Amino acid sequence: MIKKIEYHIKYINNFKPSNINELNSFKNYYQNKKGVLKLLFNEFKNINNDKKSIGEKINYLKKIIDLKINHYKNIFINEKNDEKKRIDFTLPGYCYNWNGKHPITYVNDQIINIFNNLKFKTVEDREIENDWNNFSALNFKSNHPARDMQDTFFIKHNLEDHRNNIMLRTHTTSVQIRYMCDNKPPFKCITFGKVYRNENISSRSHCFFHQIDGFYVNKKVSFIDLKDTIVYFIQQFFGRNTKFRMRSSYFPFTEPSVEVDILCLLCLGKGCKICKNTGWCEILGCGLIDKNVLNNCNIDSNKYNGFAFGIGVERVASLKYKINDIRLFSENDLNFLSQFNII
Ligand code: DAH
Repeated sequence: MIKKIEYHIKYINNFKPSNINELNSFKNYYQNKKGVLKLLFNEFKNINNDKKSIGEKINYLKKIIDLKINHYKNIFINEKNDEKKRIDFTLPGYCYNWNGKHPITYVNDQIINIFNNLKFKTVEDREIENDWNNFSALNFKSNHPARDMQDTFFIKHNLEDHRNNIMLRTHTTSVQIRYMCDNKPPFKCITFGKVYRNENISSRSHCFFHQIDGFYVNKKVSFIDLKDTIVYFIQQFFGRNTKFRMRSSYFPFTEPSVEVDILCLLCLGKGCKICKNTGWCEILGCGLIDKNVLNNCNIDSNKYNGFAFGIGVERVASLKYKINDIRLFSENDLNFLSQFNII
């Protein structure tokens, strides 16, 4: 009988259940009404020799069975609780009760709507551009600083010969070239999308943002047509009484070129961080399309002329909604986004 008990002691010491079912079978095997312990105690009743030592051994066996069962019971219960606490990444996410448009989409739509009212047709094109559409056809000279690595994210870059360079577009003005090369004038188009610049990220600048470019090409387009269009936009977007000014400027693809400012809506002209204490905020660039650009697109610049403009969406959105940090637009903070709960 001693040998039998010792066999069980050895077996129990080596027993390591890997789940609760194995532990339950173990428990049944030893502790059931007809289990090993019961049988051993019955047998013990009928023996006469070595009663003391055999009794002690059976009691020891009973004790290590209890210890084993309690030890593994605790482990399996804790594991089950942990499992309940664990996140199941395959389940659908928690749905925050916000289903509005992103503020950039919302402002983008507003601007496009305003120009659609003036019969500008909306066109879109690619974000990865070649040198011709992003720079050369737009009259950028081969040593223009924008071609530099500092300003542009190049995918393919050859310093000596820029003709085969590939880049993330630095402005949506590239779509102007694509459209003008593929279509016959007159045209009146608006284009929108993301643009990329190799800039340090701060409250005022980011390495990507959104632009809306417009262009109108026809016979006898005048600067007054451009001004009327811009004034209509300012009044519709910012309000009828918005004060604005036009400053002469330079872009390689327009001549003459103009930058348009509005009176800073955050400080109303007093001077603040947003307007760099000038009281004015730049909202767009525009001008009459340079003859070289039209010629580059095989448009007879003696017959046709036109105007173009480019608007920074984050910039006008920041001014209209008094947002002082451009990074908020791309951080996906629901506290910020949900303030635009407009569907
Ligand atoms: N492409 C210019 C920029 O990214 C903006 C711009 C200025 C666009 C004048 C135009 C324009 O179409 O006529 O800064």
